[in-house]
Amino acid sequence: MDVASAINIFDPAFKANAFPVYARVRAMETVTRLHAPNGNPFWLILGYDVAQTVLKDHRRFANDYRTVLTEEELKAANDAYYGHLPAEDREDAIATDRLFSDHLLGVDPPQHSRLRKLVSQSFTPKFVEGLWPRIQQLADTLLDDLESHLNTTGNRQFDLLEHYAFPLPITVISEMLGIPGEDRDRFRQWSNAVLELNPQAGTNPEAMESLGAFAFYLMRLANEKRQTPGDDLFSGLLQAEEEGDVLSEQELIAMIFLLIVAGHETTVNLIGNGMLAFFEHPDQLALFKADPQRHIKPAIEEILRFYGPVEMSLARYAREDLVLGGQQIRRGEPLNVMIAAADRDPELVDNPERFDITRAATRHLGFGTGNHACLGAPLARMEGQIALPSLVARFPEIRLAAAPKELVWRLTGITAA
Ligand code: HEM
Repeated sequence: MDVASAINIFDPAFKANAFPVYARVRAMETVTRLHAPNGNPFWLILGYDVAQTVLKDHRRFANDYRTVLTEEELKAANDAYYGHLPAEDREDAIATDRLFSDHLLGVDPPQHSRLRKLVSQSFTPKFVEGLWPRIQQLADTLLDDLESHLNTTGNRQFDLLEHYAFPLPITVISEMLGIPGEDRDRFRQWSNAVLELNPQAGTNPEAMESLGAFAFYLMRLANEKRQTPGDDLFSGLLQAEEEGDVLSEQELIAMIFLLIVAGHETTVNLIGNGMLAFFEHPDQLALFKADPQRHIKPAIEEILRFYGPVEMSLARYAREDLVLGGQQIRRGEPLNVMIAAADRDPELVDNPERFDITRAATRHLGFGTGNHACLGAPLARMEGQIALPSLVARFPEIRLAAAPKELVWRLTGITAA
């Protein structure tokens, strides 16, 4: 099989049938070499064991390519990434990108450890537990609204993503950060533009414009909160910034940006993909509906494994020449873990292609692993634990208004929806 043409992660049509292809390729090689649309080579990790190695071995794999590439290589990388932009847009694009690059996923220790420590107390299971009543209240209000969505024949019909899966997590993370309600819709546009920016495929002027508007908005909000701090995470991070050397302006903007993007688009898809998995497996839906409270925790883990919202990790960069999965990797080459493929590796679970909410705990990579493992995992789990049981309790007869095959997977840089 010609792997390069079998796996085309940049083609929406491929995504509809990706899993059998991953399985066939993984049986031949767990690490495979592909080319991005701009011609740049990169390695895609399909096997579970190798995925763990890449995500956990911080000595050999870096998140921050600036620390791995030489000056010349950096210039060549910039040329490849921004080269297609008109010259007048190039400098702006580089400057905007730089503003957002110092976030947790873009840096390595010791900077990473410092940044992570600053936010971690707001995402511990204990802290997050306190948000339960508010999240339940939000879910209930959204469900009340859904009661009135009728189609032309008088039956209740609604867009689950638009009217339930999206508003819930965006409201939660916005309230945590203290972002005014009226601004939240704009985030969707901005953060979608960011996600549709494919790191391997180069950038485009519209996405850069959205990113610029996003940065401008966050800087304005930072100024407002500096003058009038609130009881929220954004103000907390600003104060931390002012008390010592802790956060630079650039780090602050990048941190808030990451929390907004990572904190809502992913959980939207946990809810959406979870319901899709249930609709495709009516036996599992029946089991779940019979006793949602009993099944919800393992069901969330199985959704994360089977249809994880984050399909692919961000790139890691080899710090040295090395051999991985039998392949010779050169220093500086990017590697992406295809989490969707690793989590269906028979090395992880028996019958990986089966969606089974009664499985014993699995060590899936839906939240990543190693020092970049998802910071928001306790929050995301809790949102799922509230959203899905509340939905099936309110609408026990819920079903898809279209055939599963008619649904189209959205193509984004890293997430599946
Ligand atoms: C079901 C929902 C979610 C999924 C599947 C998910 C998945 C992931 C994955 C796979 C990574 C690691 C990426 C990599 O190593 O390249 C990650 C990192 C991260 N996630 Fe999540 N995430 C979810 C929800 C959230 C939420 C609700 C927040 C915060 C409000 C959040 C914040 C973060 C942050 C800050 C990181 C970077 C951590 C670091 O680099 O130290 N995520 N997430």
